[in-house]
Amino acid sequence: MPQVYFDHASTTPISSVALESFIEQTKLVGNPSSLHSYGRLARKKVEESRETLANLIGCHSSEIIFTSSGTEANNLAIKGIFWHRLREDPRRKLILISSFEHHAVLDPALWLGESEQAEIVMIGVNKDGYIDLDQMESVIKDRHEEIALISVMHSNNEVGTIQPIKEIAKLAEVYQIPLHSDAVQSLGKVQLSFKDLALFAMTVSAHKVGGPVGVAALVLKKGVDITPLLHGGGQERDIRSGTINAAGIASFVSATGSAMRDMESNYQKVFALRAKLISTIQGQVSDVRLNSPLEGEILPGIANIEFPSTESDSMLLLFDAEGIACSTGSACSAGVQEASHVLIAMGRSEAQARSSLRFSLGISNSESEIEYLEACIKRVIDRARAAYRG
Ligand SMILES: Cc1ncc(COP(=O)(O)O)c(C=O)c1O
Repeated sequence: MPQVYFDHASTTPISSVALESFIEQTKLVGNPSSLHSYGRLARKKVEESRETLANLIGCHSSEIIFTSSGTEANNLAIKGIFWHRLREDPRRKLILISSFEHHAVLDPALWLGESEQAEIVMIGVNKDGYIDLDQMESVIKDRHEEIALISVMHSNNEVGTIQPIKEIAKLAEVYQIPLHSDAVQSLGKVQLSFKDLALFAMTVSAHKVGGPVGVAALVLKKGVDITPLLHGGGQERDIRSGTINAAGIASFVSATGSAMRDMESNYQKVFALRAKLISTIQGQVSDVRLNSPLEGEILPGIANIEFPSTESDSMLLLFDAEGIACSTGSACSAGVQEASHVLIAMGRSEAQARSSLRFSLGISNSESEIEYLEACIKRVIDRARAAYRG
C-alpha cells in the first residue's frame, strides 16, 4: 500500500542539506560558550549561522534569539513582552490577538489572563480566514494606553491564509505598541522579512521548513528588553539561558537557506498540487465545502475541507488505514474531538468544524499521490458517513 504524507504543516521531512549539517556539527564536541578552541569553533558556526539566518529573514544577527521550539519562542514573546511593558506602565494589561492564533500564542495569552490579570481581546476573523482590520484599528484607537502587546500570526496553520501584518504594524506604530507575529508556517514558503514587516518580534521554527525538531528562534528588535522565561547561564542576550544547540542551529539555517533559494519554484509546484488535490476531492465528493480560500493571500500547500455528515477523527483514521496521513487541525481532549477554534472563529458551526480535515502538502508530494487519494476517497467518505451519528 502506498504511504502518502499530507501533513506537512504539522512537521515536514528534514531536508538532505539540513541532515548533513546536523550530522557534521553534532560530531564536534564543544559548548559554544566555552573559551577553549573547541568552544570557539562551535561558537563560530553558531554565529555564522545566525548571520546567514539574519540575511535570509531580513533582520540583524543580534536580533535572533535561538530557542528550543516555536512554542517556547511564542511564550517568550507573549509573556516576556507583557511583563516588561506592564512593569514600565501598570495600565498596560491588555493583550490583543486574533481569534484564530495557534495554541502556542492563544494559551500563554489566556494563562496571563487567568494568572496575571491580563485582559485578552480577540480580534475577529472573517469567513475566509482574514483578520478584521477595522476592529483592530478601533480597539487600538480607543485603548492604546492599556495595550501591552499585539500578536497576530503571519499565516494560519489550519487554513493557510496570510494575514495583513504590514497593515497591523502601521496601526501599532502610531502608538508604539509592540507587535509580535508567529511566522512558523510562513518561513521558507512565502516572502518573510522582519524589517519590511516592521515587527517588534517574530517567531520561526526549524521543523516546519525542513530542519530538525527542537530548534527555533524569536526575532526580537535590537535594543529592546523583555522579561526572560528561563534564567541560567545568560546565553542569547541574557533573554534565553541554556546551552546553545549548535548542531540544531546549523541544520535549521541550512534548511531555511535551501527552502528560500527555491521558494518561487516550490510555491508553484506545491500550489499546483494543492489545486489538483482540491479539484480531485470536489470531483469525487460532490458536497464538500472549502474552508481555505482557493487562491489569493495563502500558503501554497494547505487545503482545509469540510465533508458534511462525517466526523473528522473517524475520517482521519479511515484515511490512515489507506496509508494517507492528514490532520483534523484540532486537539482531541479526553478522547473527545474538540471542534477547531480556528474554524469556529471563521463562523463555521460546531458540526461543520467537526467534519473538516486539513491536507497540507510539501515539495516531497507528487501528482501520483493525489491520484492514489482519488482512488480511495469515495470509500473513505462512504464509510465515515455510515459511521456518522450526527
Ligand atoms: C502557527 C504555529 N505556531 C507555532 C507552532 C509551534 O511550533 P513548535 O512545534 O516548534 O513548537 C506551530 C506548530 O504546529 C504552528 O503551526
